[in-house]
Amino acid sequence: MIDLFKRQTALAKGLVLDVLSEGDSAVDATAGTGADTVFLAGVVGESGRVYAFDNQWEAISKTTARLKATGLTDRVSLFYRGHETMGSNDALRRDPNIKAVMFNLGYLPGGDHQKTTKTETTMAALQSALSILSPGGIITLLAYMHPEGKAEYDALSNDLKSLESLYDVYQVKTMNHQQAPILFVITKKEE
Ligand SMILES: C[S@@+](CC[C@H](N)C(=O)[O-])C[C@H]1O[C@@H](n2cnc3c(N)ncnc32)[C@H](O)[C@@H]1O
Repeated sequence: MIDLFKRQTALAKGLVLDVLSEGDSAVDATAGTGADTVFLAGVVGESGRVYAFDNQWEAISKTTARLKATGLTDRVSLFYRGHETMGSNDALRRDPNIKAVMFNLGYLPGGDHQKTTKTETTMAALQSALSILSPGGIITLLAYMHPEGKAEYDALSNDLKSLESLYDVYQVKTMNHQQAPILFVITKKEE
């Protein structure tokens, strides 16, 4: 448990595991190195579907390579597009079974720190994620405390505290480390 709290990425995955099952669909809103995409593809199994987005070619090639290496390519639709296009993506809009959406915000590990997620597009993608999520589903957002990340965190915090009661919103924050990443978790109630 202590380790889960120390590594918020592991905590996000642990919470997703509680909701996502074989045959479900899931979205990786920030594919990056492909670690979360591979995780989701493993959980949904051969009969499930994962949609993964990234607007950096470097991330798309890293994710493609990781999917090939793990033999999971066939169950993933990888989009070289920003997650803000999620709302107009026909495949997602037609899929009634999206049980999890993961956002790991910020920049590509080892990549250009200027090419980071931005408040405006993150907030647009979150609105789409909320609308495509199935009842009983989960959204995780991991926010980092670099300057753009802080602005994202503030916007998320501000919006999420008044989210309609169809959803429950939680925040996991390391109270005595101001620079530690902060995890938001949103669950959508069963209808
Ligand atoms: C912290 S990394 C993600 C880590 C990743 N989930 C993994 O498992 O390695 C953040 C990623 O968000 C991507 N990104 C930035 N803006 C984006 C946008 N508008 N839409 C989709 N991805 C974006 C960056 O290119 C970067 O690869």
